[in-house]
Amino acid sequence: MNRAEIEAYIREIQATKIEEFKDRAAEAELFRIKYLGKKGVIGSLFEQFKSIPPEQKKEVGQVLNQLKVAAQTKIEEFKAFVEEAELADNAHDLTLPADFAQPGSRHVLSVVMNEITDIFSRIGFTVAESVEIEDDWHLFSALNFPPDHPARDMQDTFFVEKQEGMSEVALRTHTSSVQVRVMENNKPPIRIIAPGRVFRNEAISARAHCIFHQVEALYVDKKVTFADLKQTLLYFAKEMFGEQTQIRLRPSYFPFTEPSAEMDISCNICGGKGCNICKGTGWLEILGCGMVDPNVLEACGIDSHEYTGFALGMGVERMAMLKYQVRDLRLYFENDLRFLRQFDTIL
Ligand code: DAH
Repeated sequence: MNRAEIEAYIREIQATKIEEFKDRAAEAELFRIKYLGKKGVIGSLFEQFKSIPPEQKKEVGQVLNQLKVAAQTKIEEFKAFVEEAELADNAHDLTLPADFAQPGSRHVLSVVMNEITDIFSRIGFTVAESVEIEDDWHLFSALNFPPDHPARDMQDTFFVEKQEGMSEVALRTHTSSVQVRVMENNKPPIRIIAPGRVFRNEAISARAHCIFHQVEALYVDKKVTFADLKQTLLYFAKEMFGEQTQIRLRPSYFPFTEPSAEMDISCNICGGKGCNICKGTGWLEILGCGMVDPNVLEACGIDSHEYTGFALGMGVERMAMLKYQVRDLRLYFENDLRFLRQFDTIL
């Protein structure tokens, strides 16, 4: 390498005119790569510069720096030129209407969860929230689950790795644990609604998911009866699914309620005549409920001779499925905009 060679490059650069490029942006980029790219002209000259005789270093070094500055300056010029040309090309028409900005919207599960919470808050229930990682006591023992109950099995429950000196800890399998926390820390009258996320060790399919949402309600006071429960359920069903909705209660079993029941509503799709959603029965299963078992009240430090209560729990995904005819649980978690946008208008 020598001074003349470098000066030739400098002249070449100075003579380059972007106005003559056909595809300005692309060719300007090629120019940059040619001179300043990793394996470009300037890089390789600097590489060669290392091995020239010391007495030439000063002279050659100077022109080499001039070359680098010339290339950089040219690229800055190119950039400014390309930008200006683009602006002129698009000649922004300020009279055009603005692009439509898609506003965000709530997820359908939030919408339904808020709706349920709202319906209960209108009759005096207040929201209670609690932890998603729970211990055995709040999840099972205080709720009267016997030690060998299948819900305590690894197959149903995600256990968190056991730490020294700690009792069993798991991701909560239901929001009924919130009942226990509230009763332990408050004196009746208690009237709470507990919406939240729950976790179960299930294979994911159209009908089951390992993460879902529940809303739990609890009312404890003097002289709370099954009639109070039934009337609350009827009120809820009508508010949620429409004035014409009917309910029916079927005897059931939960460890934490006695007696226990499951509530069905008249099918809101066929009006009770029978269709494929209600499998021809005219009824849809909606929630579990019952009178709080005295053992649960006592476990939480509430005198079961003085107080009684009712509790109920429902799945939010199922409510949303029935309300909006969602056929596959997985849709809730995929965040496919084609699904989400169908609920844009409901707030
Ligand atoms: N915890 C129950 C479940 O996860 C739902 C439930 C049923 C809650 C009856 C209640 C109840 O409070 O009384 O399936």
